[in-house]
Amino acid sequence: MKTKRSLRSQQWFGREGKDGFLHRSWIKNQGYPDDLFDGRPVIGICNTWSELTPCNGHFREIAEFVKRGVYEAGGFPLEFPVMSLGETQLRPTAMLFRNLASMDVEESIRGNPIDGVVLLMGCDKTTPALLMGAASVDIPTIGISGGPMLSGHYRGKQLGSGTGVWQMSEDVRAGKMSQEEFTAAESCMHRSKGHCMTMGTASTMASMVEALGVALPGNAAIPAVDARRYRQAQLTGRRIVEMVQEDLVLSKILTRSAFENAIKTNAAIGGSTNAVIHLLAIAGRIGVPLKLEDWDKLGSELPCLVNLQPSGKFLMEDFYYAGGLPAVMREIQHVLDRDALTVNGKKIGENIADAPNWNREVIKPLDDPFKDRAGIAVLRGNLAPDGAVIKPSAASPQLLKHRGRAVVFESIEDLHAKIDDENLDIDETCVMVLKGCGPKGYPGMAEVGNMPLPPKLLRKGITDIVRISDARMSGTAYGTVVLHVSPEAAAGGPLALVQNGDFIEVDVPGRRLHLDVSDAELAKRRAAWKAPDAPRRGWYKLYVDHVQQAHLGADLDLLVGGSGAEVKRDSH
Ligand code: FES
Repeated sequence: MKTKRSLRSQQWFGREGKDGFLHRSWIKNQGYPDDLFDGRPVIGICNTWSELTPCNGHFREIAEFVKRGVYEAGGFPLEFPVMSLGETQLRPTAMLFRNLASMDVEESIRGNPIDGVVLLMGCDKTTPALLMGAASVDIPTIGISGGPMLSGHYRGKQLGSGTGVWQMSEDVRAGKMSQEEFTAAESCMHRSKGHCMTMGTASTMASMVEALGVALPGNAAIPAVDARRYRQAQLTGRRIVEMVQEDLVLSKILTRSAFENAIKTNAAIGGSTNAVIHLLAIAGRIGVPLKLEDWDKLGSELPCLVNLQPSGKFLMEDFYYAGGLPAVMREIQHVLDRDALTVNGKKIGENIADAPNWNREVIKPLDDPFKDRAGIAVLRGNLAPDGAVIKPSAASPQLLKHRGRAVVFESIEDLHAKIDDENLDIDETCVMVLKGCGPKGYPGMAEVGNMPLPPKLLRKGITDIVRISDARMSGTAYGTVVLHVSPEAAAGGPLALVQNGDFIEVDVPGRRLHLDVSDAELAKRRAAWKAPDAPRRGWYKLYVDHVQQAHLGADLDLLVGGSGAEVKRDSH
């Protein structure tokens, strides 16, 4: 099949004379024969493999299967690495580097002789970083996720990534579990290649990739070690070559309809609050107007159908065997735009039309949902003028409307220093408030919003109290946790002005977050407020100087939008 427009790779490989020689000859040092430079589509395989990102540790294997597919379809695959972000290792938080990795992806694609790109994504931030970077270039793009790990098992019970850690660490702090038992659980939780196998951020974002139409159907749930994950990789390699021939660029897939479908699907899977920030940022890159309110408007009334941890019982492996994301999307198809185009050239409605549901305990039917009204709720008020989010399905129903006395932690260090103090003046009616953990404050907006509870409350059997911060929360966590308060404390948001003993009202049904302090008193506190010291050099400085607030997706202001695929100057 002839391509619809001339291949950009031919601006390198198709040239004569010295320049053509330079572009071809050095690549040929890897053993490629002459005919691979004859005008066939060159497919970049954007790989986030790293041993420091264990969730993506199998990506070189996946890349080999993508290459098979590319060769089969008549393309020329060239794999390239980009910055990889390991959620459990990177300090101070992987999110600080999402935008940096996206710059790496964007410039690597644009600056090289690539006609189409395959994005290999897995651990939490690698998915949004790659989609953001690719969106700013806008060539034919297809994603493949690395797939979730096999289910964790410990002492006869399933053990979910992250979620099990939060539960067990509280048990250790409450004296219900020994340190030896806790250590033994480490090897039982993560026992295969792949990303977290709860419906945490990685599984959520893999689902978003599929719901957006950027990956082939079935992408989200196939376990990382299942042969079908590798078959999917091979089919992905075949398909990207066709996409180049069809000139099916990313902006034809990432439309407003695609984002709306993804937001609705996020509600139906009980997805992570992190998806809010990432989808806002991706939309900003591709030029689709998307607002924080869209999450509430489009998704908050929808039910959660998927009974997966952290809100439920099962894990991603069970989800795959039950039918995975296509089964969920079929269940809510009446609210989706079924005409949205996907990377396989079909409409999303066609992809999900016959999707079977093999286990209605794992994927519940619409008329008997796992949880009612499960999407993200957006709160506003004098404590969060630009918004804050809460995932009601992960919260305690009795706390969704609550007024309590604030117990304030000025920073994460302050929290760590005080939380185990038996003299901390706190009871279960209080509201924990954490400052300094937003995009600028941490910096990077850490996943610390699900603050640990004081041991004296845990011993009383209290498992949840209201917590409010400008932080994010791991997708594997749960609780009545108000997150992403915007503007953040470090940017001078009202959160910075909260003091111990103030009263705070949280009203999720009324979408309100109110600090019960007079305007006059707040003005007095504001006059006395001092901005924290800013970083003085390097990426930290660039980030803090330019990062936008959470309600805008926490992208750098200078990265919003795209620059297309053209580079006017030759390489010299
Ligand atoms: Fe990588 Fe959870 S730590 S997906």
